[in-house]
Amino acid sequence: MLQPPRRNSDQPKTAVIGGGIIGLSIAWRLAQCGADVTVFDSGATGHGATHAAAGMLAACAEAEPGEERLIALCREGQARWPAFAAELEEASRLSVDLRREGTLVLAPTADEQARLKHQLEFQHSLDLPVEWISTAELRRREPHVANIAGAVFSPEDHQVDNRKVATALRAAAEAAGAVIREHTPVQEIAIAGGRVSHLVLDDGSRFAADAIVLAAGAWSRSIAGLPAEARVPVRPVKGQMICLQMNAAQPLLNHVVWAPGVYLVPRRDGRLLVGATVEEKGFDTSLTAGGILALLEAAWRVIPAIEELPVAEMWVGHRPGSRDDAPIIGPSLIEGLIYATGHHRNGVLLAPLTADVVARCVLDGTLDPIVRPFGLDRFAAAKAA
Ligand code: GLY
Repeated sequence: MLQPPRRNSDQPKTAVIGGGIIGLSIAWRLAQCGADVTVFDSGATGHGATHAAAGMLAACAEAEPGEERLIALCREGQARWPAFAAELEEASRLSVDLRREGTLVLAPTADEQARLKHQLEFQHSLDLPVEWISTAELRRREPHVANIAGAVFSPEDHQVDNRKVATALRAAAEAAGAVIREHTPVQEIAIAGGRVSHLVLDDGSRFAADAIVLAAGAWSRSIAGLPAEARVPVRPVKGQMICLQMNAAQPLLNHVVWAPGVYLVPRRDGRLLVGATVEEKGFDTSLTAGGILALLEAAWRVIPAIEELPVAEMWVGHRPGSRDDAPIIGPSLIEGLIYATGHHRNGVLLAPLTADVVARCVLDGTLDPIVRPFGLDRFAAAKAA
């Protein structure tokens, strides 16, 4: 049994609001340093966007013009994953299934091929490791892909099993001494004299804290107590997903595959995730015929053999989207309140980096320059400009 480190009473008593991959990673890092840290989740840990995600660690294949700063952040986040996964597996003694086959982006039509080649030029201008591969090379890598003109191979865009990561993070955080309080919604962040004072919980009780990390994903805006200028502009971005069951011994796919309107993520146990819709429907949780039809049709166009696969599961998740769809990380106008939210499509990818940066910020007040462009103040500056 792992022994938790001794708590260091000089370090701030910290409350983390949100027990998803971001909140749990931060709590783990803080607890490793001996901090007194408690995570609050309104439900079970890891059951929001973390449960719904596909676990793609994609910083290159999706890179588009206009996102240069975010791409730099995502590349740094990606670089931290192998060591993070190894450390997490050792600390939790649980596997997180980091797979390194890379990602293929398919171009089924001439239009799509032209668009992809244009995007490739941009990606090469940023020195991203992506390459055009021939039909023959594509077939060699993935024989079940339909007849397709060409594809981009992104060798550093890996995947991890996000649900396993959440389970491992919880175990590692608890083993390091973090306290996890599930089914404990936070009603309010109380402020006194310009700094955080305590949380008010659902049952009216108080939890005093020197530092509060807001990591409640798509729910980050709904916690009372903050003045308007300290509230984060985060909204839920609905995604529907479907999981098909392949034969694990003879999977139809081994790489993560992107094609127009869909991505496919094969897991070691034979599950094949097919995602995801991107919908502005608030916290709507319905699976719709149109959503599932669109995903399956797009997937079937590129991998026709999926039509024989049984459906294992379908679900809906809510990504935390900010106004510019980039994360909000770092200190706030309120002393002791630190943001770690708004990660939109990149929550799994950016969890290790966010955890390192936010833990440092809590413990010694320093902010890694890599997240400076991702403060809440950027929205006020954009409004003033
Ligand atoms: N990162 C994948 C998604 O948001 O659907």
